[in-house]
Amino acid sequence: MGHRKLKKFAEVAEFPNVIQTHMFPEDGIVFPLKGNWKTDYFKNNNPITLELGCGRGEYTVGLARRFPNRNFIGMDIKGARLWKGAKAALAENLTNVAFVRNRIDFIETYFAPGEVNEIWLPFPDPYPGKPKKRLVAEPFIKRYRNIAPAGTIVHLKTDNHELYEFALEQVNEFSYPLLAQSENVYLDVPDIGTERFSLLREIQTYYEKLFQSSGSKIHYAEFSI
Ligand SMILES: C[S@@+](CC[C@H](N)C(=O)[O-])C[C@H]1O[C@@H](n2cnc3c(N)ncnc32)[C@H](O)[C@@H]1O
Repeated sequence: MGHRKLKKFAEVAEFPNVIQTHMFPEDGIVFPLKGNWKTDYFKNNNPITLELGCGRGEYTVGLARRFPNRNFIGMDIKGARLWKGAKAALAENLTNVAFVRNRIDFIETYFAPGEVNEIWLPFPDPYPGKPKKRLVAEPFIKRYRNIAPAGTIVHLKTDNHELYEFALEQVNEFSYPLLAQSENVYLDVPDIGTERFSLLREIQTYYEKLFQSSGSKIHYAEFSI
């Protein structure tokens, strides 16, 4: 492993806004912040938005800057990526930001029923040929439903047409209300509305920039679960 990556791992382990306690359902140990994020971590009663597969946490940090009266938690398995968002949040004293490093598969060990109010999925891995591993597949939606109240909004942003179509099929199959959709968020102001348009355009992730520079269209689907 490269020197820079090792340095980031060492630093992220010390960041007060990164939870690295690896929890697995079979451990039987209750994560102390589960059910207590608002009172014990954020020290407020504001709603919580999760960014899953957050990478460098552009949505977590970007939304936290725009919405100081909400709390934001990014989750990813890759610590060297989380480092960037966590470092920016500390530098800007964004007290409404946290990161959790673990697999999203174990999300219910970190959050109690009803504790999460919104979910962002920016550029999740498309997992060609492995639909059950996709973050919009039913096994994941079931997990989200165990930590978020009915009607919670999920935002999917992706360059991958197959994943976009798959998400829309899931919406159809499981009758999730579809709130907005766009094949090309950079052109679709009238269809998605100016508020969504500005959030989707102004906050760009690392992968988004890569995909855009290679000419991919950016798709968006918003539905409630
Ligand atoms: C294509 S990258 C996108 C990262 C970031 N959202 C962006 O747009 O730049 C997908 C991210 O999801 C994370 N990821 C994929 N499956 C995961 C899982 N089951 N649990 C935790 N992280 C996962 C990967 O580590 C990776 O950082």
